[in-house]
Amino acid sequence: MLAYVYGKQNKLALLEKKPPAPTEESAVIKVAATSICGTDLRTYRFGSPKIKAPRVIGHEVVGEIVAIGKDVREFSVGERVQVAPAIGCGKCADCRSGHTNVCDSLETIGFDYDGTFAEFMEIPPRAIKMGNVSKLPATVPSEQAVLAEPIACIINAHQYLKISTGDVVAIFGSGFIGCMHAELAAIEGAEKVIMIEVNPARAEAAKKINDRLIIVNPNKQNLGDEIKKLTGGRGVTVSIVACSVGSAQTDAMNVTAKRGRISLFGGLPTVSTGFIDSNMIHYREMSVYGVHASSPAQNREALRLISSGILDVKPYASNIFALKDIDKAFASLNNETIMKAIIVP
Ligand SMILES: NC(=O)c1ccc[n+]([C@@H]2O[C@H](COP(=O)([O-])OP(=O)(O)OC[C@H]3O[C@@H](n4cnc5c(N)ncnc54)[C@H](O)[C@@H]3O)[C@@H](O)[C@H]2O)c1
Ligand SMILES: [Zn+2]
Ligand SMILES: [Zn+2]
Repeated sequence: MLAYVYGKQNKLALLEKKPPAPTEESAVIKVAATSICGTDLRTYRFGSPKIKAPRVIGHEVVGEIVAIGKDVREFSVGERVQVAPAIGCGKCADCRSGHTNVCDSLETIGFDYDGTFAEFMEIPPRAIKMGNVSKLPATVPSEQAVLAEPIACIINAHQYLKISTGDVVAIFGSGFIGCMHAELAAIEGAEKVIMIEVNPARAEAAKKINDRLIIVNPNKQNLGDEIKKLTGGRGVTVSIVACSVGSAQTDAMNVTAKRGRISLFGGLPTVSTGFIDSNMIHYREMSVYGVHASSPAQNREALRLISSGILDVKPYASNIFALKDIDKAFASLNNETIMKAIIVP
């Protein structure tokens, strides 16, 4: 089979590889759709110390079960499933309270197991046991259902933020992630969603799909003044940093109202201190939330939102590439000409 493999010299390459076979406790899917995440793009650009080479990368996937071990009772051949990639141990305190994504001994598809950028993928036994595999409703297209995993991470963030009627939400970065935060905030009843974006082409692409967005470019406008105008001087009640940029974290803190909530959704490469002023958080009674990956329950909630049509992801699922063209997909993401790439092997 064809597979996109992270090799010894930290380089990615399309290779011919033996397809996986299931053990007694695992299953094999034929990948129906897999999408490229910001994490994969970071690996493409800089390599990743977290991946043990050689490894097939990719972790956002839906596929059809084509082979199954004799001890797996939950699924059968022919079923279409989505797999949540962050797999908990089931034993630590976080796993026991349902937060398997922050497990003490987390294992992740595409890092600790061969991933999704291939024609076939083995679902590890632990993923099956931990409930990371969900059956798909017949009506939802694979190219839309595959977006459930990144959307599950967004649901995770919003479970902390508790956005509701009357909230004014600022989002920093209008990539796929920022756009999904905007869609979910609107569903939750946010009064206004302000998209702060430095790349005009990216802002335009987001606005074309979601015309309710209010766009601010901090390189061309005074961010503080614009936010004051839009919020009657108070500041936004919720800020979401949907990029990996320290100065955006500082901007988020500065535009947030007293008692506001801030989500640090994007992690920072290398140095990650000094962007948030702790006394400002203290005196203004602000809350800052971290968020990392998602649980199986959040993946199922994302699938429910997509398949019920509550969250219309179709406009975001238009850039589809064959696996043999995956380098082209990465190049398009790398120069920011597209927002999200979906691979249909
Ligand atoms: N926490 C999680 O579970 C999780 C999951 C997936 C992605 N992420 C993170 O979410 C972030 C967004 O992902 P994406 O795929 O949409 O990335 P992306 O690179 O496609 O989009 C980021 C956008 O931010 C913009 N930007 C850069 N600097 C800015 C600034 N100072 N102010 C405003 N906008 C700025 C860029 O122009 C770009 O359009 C990344 O940091 C990624 O690592 C986190
Ligand atoms: Zn992802
Ligand atoms: Zn655990």
